[in-house]
Amino acid sequence: MPVRRTSMHGQWSSRMAFVLAATGSAVGLGNIWKFPYITGENGGGAFVLVYLICIAVIGIPIMMAEVMLGRRGRQSPINTMRALIADERAHGAWRLLGWAGVAAGFLIMSYYSVIAGEALAYVFRTAGGMFDGATADGVRSIFAAFTSDAEALLAWHTIFTALTMVVVARGVRGGLEMATKIMMPALFVILLLLVGYALDLGKFDQAVTFLFWPDFSKISANGILIAMGHAFFTLSLGMGAIMVYGSYMRQDTSIAKTSILISLADTTVALLAGLAIFPIVFTNGLEPAAGPGLIFQTLPLAFGHMPGGSFFGTLFFILLVFAAWSSAISLIEPAVAWLVENRGLSRVDATVRVGSLTWLLGLATVFSATGVTVGDIAHKIAGSVGLSTFAFNGRFFQMTAFGLIDYLTANIMLPLGGLFIAIFAGWVMAKRSVQDEMDVGNRFAFGLWYIVIRFVTPFAVIVVFLDAIGVVPWLRALIQR
Ligand code: PHE
Repeated sequence: MPVRRTSMHGQWSSRMAFVLAATGSAVGLGNIWKFPYITGENGGGAFVLVYLICIAVIGIPIMMAEVMLGRRGRQSPINTMRALIADERAHGAWRLLGWAGVAAGFLIMSYYSVIAGEALAYVFRTAGGMFDGATADGVRSIFAAFTSDAEALLAWHTIFTALTMVVVARGVRGGLEMATKIMMPALFVILLLLVGYALDLGKFDQAVTFLFWPDFSKISANGILIAMGHAFFTLSLGMGAIMVYGSYMRQDTSIAKTSILISLADTTVALLAGLAIFPIVFTNGLEPAAGPGLIFQTLPLAFGHMPGGSFFGTLFFILLVFAAWSSAISLIEPAVAWLVENRGLSRVDATVRVGSLTWLLGLATVFSATGVTVGDIAHKIAGSVGLSTFAFNGRFFQMTAFGLIDYLTANIMLPLGGLFIAIFAGWVMAKRSVQDEMDVGNRFAFGLWYIVIRFVTPFAVIVVFLDAIGVVPWLRALIQR
């Protein structure tokens, strides 16, 4: 039965505007900063293959479901869920889906702005010619010195958070539409240029093999979980960002076509980033598993040696900041929209509250950069209350606060959110409501998606979770006995 709501926050000006905004949300640090370093940490080809499979069988179907829910509810994710619960007479607990998404958005934004702040700092460093003719060791020690300077990180984190707040306060529909129209294609072109440079480096073949030759002995169950988590993260799924953008989508825009288009664009950018970075890694004898600093330790080397390097380098980091910016606004938009709807705040007030909170949470990541682990902090706290003999040495205690937040959000909260989105769309909503909102002309295509979202996607997510906590290997052993 047709339910047609309108959003109090307005609507995208055109079909293209939704595609641009959602692509702006999807393409960000996840593609250029995170994808290469987690690929390096998890052994390359097999990880990339699992990630691509997850994009296809989990990511794209869930993106369609998430946009569909948003457009039907036409409110912040929290209120969208409330409206759909009423429409479909579903259990009230489904509202938790909206709340969990808001929490995940806060947590992700807290470190996202610190990393984006690092990229912002690198705009000025490349522009100033800091990397001209630099060696691999030189670039690495510049990065190490930078990340041990908590004050500098804090300053850039503050600036990036403020930039994000400016756009969100003005309403995401006006501010960034134009910027993404120019910046996204420009980023694409400069990545192509970097890949062109990498082609000449001699170790390009080795990089291609590393990225695309799957060696399954190199990937662990945890690596598979990370690949799946990244499919959610890079497509901005499972926390309401894409849902809230769907709530501003025009009724005549095709959910299926745009979701596929956005996912393809996002995946292409990630693969290009890998093809630009790994030849530099192998040619200079760097460590693929260098971790979150990987792009800051590799790309400046290319910029330091290619003709026109400081120009292209500056441009690259500017575009990276823009890509991060257009993602960051979608991380806090669900919370801001909710405050406007339910607390009657102005957008400016709502944005100030949300931005201040994520800024504060970001301090945990600022101090992580200096190497403090969760275990260190636990020791300090335990020591101060006289529990100094307690041992904090599990896997999670060895992580930094940033590592823990990243693991919790990308690998657990987003996939769980996505799983419940799939279950809600596939099992809780009436099929005719879903069909009415999706409005796929082709009945076969709709039927295929509906089967995938009901069975394939939930099954795949659950198996990866069970595998990661050791249930699948345990079952296999049980059967073989
Ligand atoms: N997709 C963004 C990126 O790849 C990050 C993001 C995650 C944005 C979740 C919104 C929601 O950088």
